[in-house]
Amino acid sequence: MEQRLAGKIAIVTGAGQGIGKGVALRLAREGASLVVAELDAGAAAETAAEIAALGQQALAYPINIADTAATRKMIEDVVNTFGHIDILVNNAGRVQTKPMLELTEADWDGVLDVIQRGMFFCLQAVAAQMIRQIPEAERAGLGLADVVSVKASADQPASHATQNHGKIVNLSSIAGRRGRPLQTHYAAGKAAVISITQSAALALAPYNINVNAVCPGVVPTAMWRQIDADRGRLFGSQPGEAMAAFINTVPLKRAGSPEDVAGAIAFLCSADADYITGQTLNVDGGYEMD
Ligand SMILES: NC(=O)c1ccc[n+]([C@@H]2O[C@H](COP(=O)([O-])OP(=O)(O)OC[C@H]3O[C@@H](n4cnc5c(N)ncnc54)[C@H](O)[C@@H]3O)[C@@H](O)[C@H]2O)c1
Repeated sequence: MEQRLAGKIAIVTGAGQGIGKGVALRLAREGASLVVAELDAGAAAETAAEIAALGQQALAYPINIADTAATRKMIEDVVNTFGHIDILVNNAGRVQTKPMLELTEADWDGVLDVIQRGMFFCLQAVAAQMIRQIPEAERAGLGLADVVSVKASADQPASHATQNHGKIVNLSSIAGRRGRPLQTHYAAGKAAVISITQSAALALAPYNINVNAVCPGVVPTAMWRQIDADRGRLFGSQPGEAMAAFINTVPLKRAGSPEDVAGAIAFLCSADADYITGQTLNVDGGYEMD
């Protein structure tokens, strides 16, 4: 496989299974070293072992991405281990299927603390590190803000960096494209991911750090098995029925795979996408078209 990411250090959150694992393996196949940032320590170790078997370096890093102090510590530990961070894939996620009128505050926080709050503060911490990595001479020569004054100067930088200084890809969802009465909090969080992607792309453009999002459609992972089971409980459908009904509405008439999503993300993490930022790409078999 083409080594588009040779020498790059990539963090993928939620890489213990499903889409995140597919992404981590794909980035490793393209030459990156990986940090497998994952709640489930055993799953993190398994993904890291598979990456090592591909001949790439991998650090299994058990973490709850909702814990922002732990995220900041992870960035420090990764820099101490690898020296730099070039790629972040904000993939860790939780879903819950429950009628809107029954949602509790705990339900709301349980999902949003991971997919919105946790993902944002992970992005922020990694972006600050990517800015710190810009050689001082380049930063000074261009009049770019250093990391402590980013907020004050990001709107009107003196100039723009010319070398690429990092790639960030956030996992939104087709649920972020329109409302979902049985996943109101999840859909709100995924819509926020699109907004955060655009804001971060603007804030980080002066530093030539690209920020994009992808919206998978239906990918039969543990997350979708949970949605299918929850819909079965709510509507009395048989296992697999909810997913099959959904797939029937997809123009390409099949579910996506982690590899389908990973291919799009690897592209966005590569130099082939240097001129793409602030975009949200549907990877959903044509289900959504804007
Ligand atoms: N599967 C789909 O059809 C689909 C569709 C659209 C979007 N997505 C999004 O893609 C991403 C991956 O989904 P998936 O289907 O692979 O899910 P999954 O449930 O199979 O895997 C999610 C992984 O994230 C980890 N994780 C969960 N909470 C975490 C936390 N607080 N800190 C660290 N790790 C945590 C889990 O342990 C798990 O390994 C999610 O953001 C999801 O919302 C999935």
